[in-house]
Amino acid sequence: MSRCLLVQFSGRSRGWARGIGTYSSSSVVDEPITPPVKITDTQLLINGKFVDAASGKTFPTLDPRTGDVIAHVAEGSAEDVDRAVAAARKAFDEGPWPRMTAYERSCILLRFADLLEKHKDDLAAIETWDNGKPYKQAAEVEVPGIIRLMRYYAGWADKIHGLTVPADGEYHVQTLHEPIGVAGQIIPWNFPLLMLAWKIGPALACGNTVVLKTAELTPLSALYAARLLHEAGLPPGVLNIVSGPGPTAGRALSSHMDVNKLSFTGSAETGKVVLDLAAKSNLKPVTLELGGKSPFIVCKEADIDQAVELAHLALFFNQGQCCVAGSRTFVHESVYDEFVEKAKARAMKRVVGDPFKPGVEQGPQIDAKQFEKIRSYIKFGIESGATLECGGERYGSKGFFIQPTVFSDVQDDMLIAKDEIFGPVQTISKFKDLDEVIRRANKSHYGLAAGVFTQNLDTANTLARALRAGSVWINCYHVFDAAIPFGGYKMSGFGREKGIYSLSNYLQVKAVVNPLKNPAWL
Ligand code: NAI
Ligand code: MG
Repeated sequence: MSRCLLVQFSGRSRGWARGIGTYSSSSVVDEPITPPVKITDTQLLINGKFVDAASGKTFPTLDPRTGDVIAHVAEGSAEDVDRAVAAARKAFDEGPWPRMTAYERSCILLRFADLLEKHKDDLAAIETWDNGKPYKQAAEVEVPGIIRLMRYYAGWADKIHGLTVPADGEYHVQTLHEPIGVAGQIIPWNFPLLMLAWKIGPALACGNTVVLKTAELTPLSALYAARLLHEAGLPPGVLNIVSGPGPTAGRALSSHMDVNKLSFTGSAETGKVVLDLAAKSNLKPVTLELGGKSPFIVCKEADIDQAVELAHLALFFNQGQCCVAGSRTFVHESVYDEFVEKAKARAMKRVVGDPFKPGVEQGPQIDAKQFEKIRSYIKFGIESGATLECGGERYGSKGFFIQPTVFSDVQDDMLIAKDEIFGPVQTISKFKDLDEVIRRANKSHYGLAAGVFTQNLDTANTLARALRAGSVWINCYHVFDAAIPFGGYKMSGFGREKGIYSLSNYLQVKAVVNPLKNPAWL
């Protein structure tokens, strides 16, 4: 597995420890492993200082393994968002960040990456504790991923510049690529550190200042990382972190008149709300990264064992809590029965348990609400006539664990084939020919990603062009390099993150025109 990718799976390398056991009803977390880290930062970060919320209120963040409280975190409100935006505004209008040389900004981001590297074990442990994801995944994939992202954006900082433009007439015309101002950023709980890096990387590299609201379910790792960024030399007010609820803090940020740009990752439902708030306040431009119901297509000439493993990873990675989860598995009729048998066997082998335990592939779901939502979708699946091949139950007796679940005979009009389940539930359908599967795969309001498994180059090329999705992975899945752009078609959102395309979200283009006085030299 390459370290610069979030996950790379080609069928030849197998990233995750293989399971041994089958489902067990015994709780695996009666004695949860003590996380190897101390929580230090639980206040809001405003103007370079950790401070209490204006109201003095806090909220608990929970350990999804047990439902126990990890820490109480300052609960940001509209008033705190105002304070944070005022700090970011001042840092942008008067502070050194947009005025220092791009190289100096680049050096600070590089020092930040070095500090992330130095503290990588703490970061991974906090992420696992607060979110429930396997420690191995946090430590070997996600934390290296954010370090790589920061170095990538540090590399961009001093390579952002405008053009000279050949206008008609005797004018010298140039474009300046300027930072847009104060960026408001709202992130979800499924990949707290990666989402932080995807958001702040391009915003800071372009010279903007930021107010970022973390998800209320996972506030801890961003605060820790932001402390390191200040240690690296970030001036006060350039990055402000407000933990707090969406309907109060998130709403205040989205509708703030002094925020010049909004970037949101989360559900399509909340995406519509923040877009509306942005429109009704100051028309700030918005980037949305929303949900998905991504097809994973297994063609007739595929190697079944590899296809099963890849489809399994596409869906079950991160407890199924991925916006790009390959949540509609379409399998050609000629290999369907064998595929279903093997997909079931693979799911039954998936090692569920305490995410701090070596070898565990699947931890708990994030919270009781998601746990219940997933279980109700499993119930809908059974009631609508899909065949439950395995799973479907709670795993253990504590926390929010769910058995890896596989449905076959899934029809496109079933709720489990249409809605984003966001859990460890694989749905498998049969198809006959390419035109049919293209039509069915595209028949979704979402268009975030798609997976194709085939050895036939023509089939791969046809599907890559026909599928209406922002990412198409051929014989691989979940490949998230810093340089590869990511974003959605249709209701999966608009704008691209990562890669060169992400910079335009955080830049204004200014045209500067002045007459040339000596036409003899034109
Ligand atoms: P959500 O979309 O409500 O939460 C994402 C972020 O938006 C959080 O920081 C939240 O505090 C904020 N937010 C919520 N309401 C807001 C408002 N009125 N104004 C401004 N910000 C607001 O997602 P939630 O409730 O955590 O999960 C619900 C479903 O959303 C999941 O079951 C899943 O299907 C989907 N989801 C998709 C994600 C993705 O990566 N595309 C990530 C998280 C959830
Ligand atoms: Mg938590």
